[in-house]
Order: sequence, then structure tokens, then C-alpha cells
Amino acid sequence: MRTIQVPASRNYTVWVDGGLLSQAGIMIRALCPDGIRVAVVTDSNVGPLFADRLQEVLRAEGFVPSVFTFSAGEAAKSGETYLALLEYLAQMRLTRSDVMVALGGGVTGDLTGFAAATYLRGIACVQIPTSLLAMVDSSVGGKTAINLKAGKNLAGVFYQPSMVVCDVDVLRTLPQEDFADGVAEIIKYGMLKSVALLDQLMVRDLREDPTEVIAQCISIKRDVVERDEFDTGERQLLNLGHTIGHAIEGCSGYQISHGRAVAIGMAMITRGAVKAGFCPSTCLTRLEELLARYNLPSHCGFTAEELLPFALGDKKRSGDTLTLVIPTGIGVCKLHSIPVEELGQWIAWGLES
Ligand SMILES: NC(=O)c1ccc[n+]([C@@H]2O[C@H](COP(=O)([O-])OP(=O)(O)OC[C@H]3O[C@@H](n4cnc5c(N)ncnc54)[C@H](O)[C@@H]3O)[C@@H](O)[C@H]2O)c1
Repeated sequence: MRTIQVPASRNYTVWVDGGLLSQAGIMIRALCPDGIRVAVVTDSNVGPLFADRLQEVLRAEGFVPSVFTFSAGEAAKSGETYLALLEYLAQMRLTRSDVMVALGGGVTGDLTGFAAATYLRGIACVQIPTSLLAMVDSSVGGKTAINLKAGKNLAGVFYQPSMVVCDVDVLRTLPQEDFADGVAEIIKYGMLKSVALLDQLMVRDLREDPTEVIAQCISIKRDVVERDEFDTGERQLLNLGHTIGHAIEGCSGYQISHGRAVAIGMAMITRGAVKAGFCPSTCLTRLEELLARYNLPSHCGFTAEELLPFALGDKKRSGDTLTLVIPTGIGVCKLHSIPVEELGQWIAWGLES
């Protein structure tokens, strides 16, 4: 078992091991001694696989669980689903001593976290991530959000979970493509902070034994969140590949998954960094090799004109400037502010071969 303490505006523990779903009832009872109701939020793929087992272990601890299921996919991370979830919580008469549980991937985690932050001005939220991406990234750090028609994650708050339970056994049912999406975020951590992590990705069989790598990524994120919880400086580095990645997701009408879009976004910004003279070409070669090893794309079929309006709507824009995260070497990146009118050039560089 790996345990990682996250010191933030709320301190909490992240547990990583096999078999933890069966322990979740006991763990949640220890967290909420007076809780009665548990609202489990899950999607239409994950619910049928794991919601019954979770309800069973919650009942064994004297909780009254209920399950809110939404249609799987990024499109459900919307205002409509969010409001339907709030109405559901009110109907279930959840109180502030009760708890919500996000059982699913990053979409479930972001949506549930936002609802937990705003229902009754905040109730406890436990994250039980079931996708690799959610384990290594979205379940930790307290960013919660829904998408607006104008763009990704445009409505949300910082709201730390009360506990994160990563049961690596649930990854066995995760489709290969969704697993690769999680690897894209792991590559991001390696590109940002750890050559050793990138080396492991070239030799380890992640599907066979993911615990160690998941714990390493969470530790990297914990350290960054501890220093900059509210994203005013260093935490922005975790957006490597995301400005262009979010534009790709938006341009595709969310048909291209978040992980794949981030993979392409990282490759495009690294190409730009090489062209602009910030980064050696060996860094791009290494990144492209890794992406190819995990069947992740490094190019997209959109034009700069198509991507630019979506990229300009990005949250990292501030007035007339935008902060890009650019690699300066393998395992090292920096924040680089540009006037917004230069963004088109960076996208064009990224699209070159
Ligand atoms: N809050 C953050 O800090 C943060 C960080 C990174 C990404 N995100 C967000 O996370 C989302 C992407 O997360 P995701 O890739 O997990 O997407 P997702 O939640 O849509 O999950 C991907 C797919 O895998 C399925 N699935 C999940 N676990 C499964 C399992 N164990 N077995 C079978 N199927 C399973 C889901 O039903 C879905 O079809 C995006 O919305 C992104 O913006 C948030």
C-alpha cells in the first residue's frame, strides 16, 4: 500500500493499492463518523461494474447509499448534469454530515467535486477514481469543474477532496484506449519533473503493475499543489499540453479524448519550443517515441485557423497575454508569457512536421 498525504487547505490522504474498494466502507466511516447518507456519483460504464460492491460495503458500515448515474462521456460534464445532480442531492436530503463519493474517471470526479463544493456550500467528497487518468491526476489537487458551451472547465472551484482511494484492481476493466489516455498525463509528469519516470515508461509493463508509477505521479502533483494550491504560479506547469489540448478537444466536439488531446498538445508545444530555440530537438524525439509506444497521437488534422479561437478561450489567458508551458529539456519545463497575437504562430509551428 502506498499512502500520500496532501497538505492543502484541507489535508487528506491518498491511498493506492489493490483491493481497496472492499475497504472503502470502513475508510469512509472513519472519515464521517456521524454520516448517514452517501450519494455515489458514477457514469453508465462504471456504475454497472462497481456501484453494487461499493453500496454493499457502505451498508455494512451503517450508511444509506444511493446512486446517481449519468451517461458516460465528456458531454455529461455540463451545466445540465450538474443541476440534475444538485436536485438529486436535495431530494435525497443529504446534509452537511453526509458525504458524496465520485466513483469513476475524471469526468465523474470533476462533476462530483463541483457539486460537493456548492451543495449546501460544501459537503465532504471522497474520490474513488477508476480510470488511470483520474488516479494519476484529476482526483488529487482539488480542481473541480464543468464545461460551458464556450469551452472546457470554464465553471468550477478549488475544493479539495476529503480522501482519495485508488484501487488499482479496478483498472482491469478499463479499455486500452482509456488506459493510454492516462499514460498521456503520466508522460506529462515525466516531461515536467522526472526523467526517471520517462525511463520507467519505456521498460515497465504499466498494466501489470501500475501502483508505483501512480504513486510517483501523485507525489509529484502533491508537491506542486502544496507549493501553489490556487494555481498562481508553479501549478500552471501542470497545464503542459493543455492550452492546445483543450482547443483540440473543443474543435473535435469532444470526440477526441482529453488524454489524446493532451498528447497532441504536448507534442505541438514541444515542436514550437524547438522551432523557437528554447528546447533541443532530442527532447521532441524522446517525447514522440514515448507517445508512439503507447499508441498516442502526436499530430492532429485541424488547421491553425480552426484551433486558434478555442485556444484563445483558454483560462490561462490574462488580458492580452497568455502563459504557455514549454519544455526546455527532458524533464524540465518553464512558464513563458506571450502576447496573445503570437499564439497563432506557436500553433502553426506545432502543426509543422
Ligand atoms: N480536475 C483535474 O485536475 C483534472 C486533471 C486532468 C483531467 N481532468 C478531466 O478529466 C476528464 C478526463 O478523465 P477520464 O479520461 O478519466 O475520462 P472519463 O471519466 O470520461 O473516463 C474515460 C472512460 O473510461 C470509462 N471508465 C472509467 N473507469 C473505468 C473502469 N475501471 N472500467 C471500465 N471503464 C471505465 C468511463 O466510463 C469513460 O467511458 C476530462 O474532463 C478532464 O478535463 C481533470
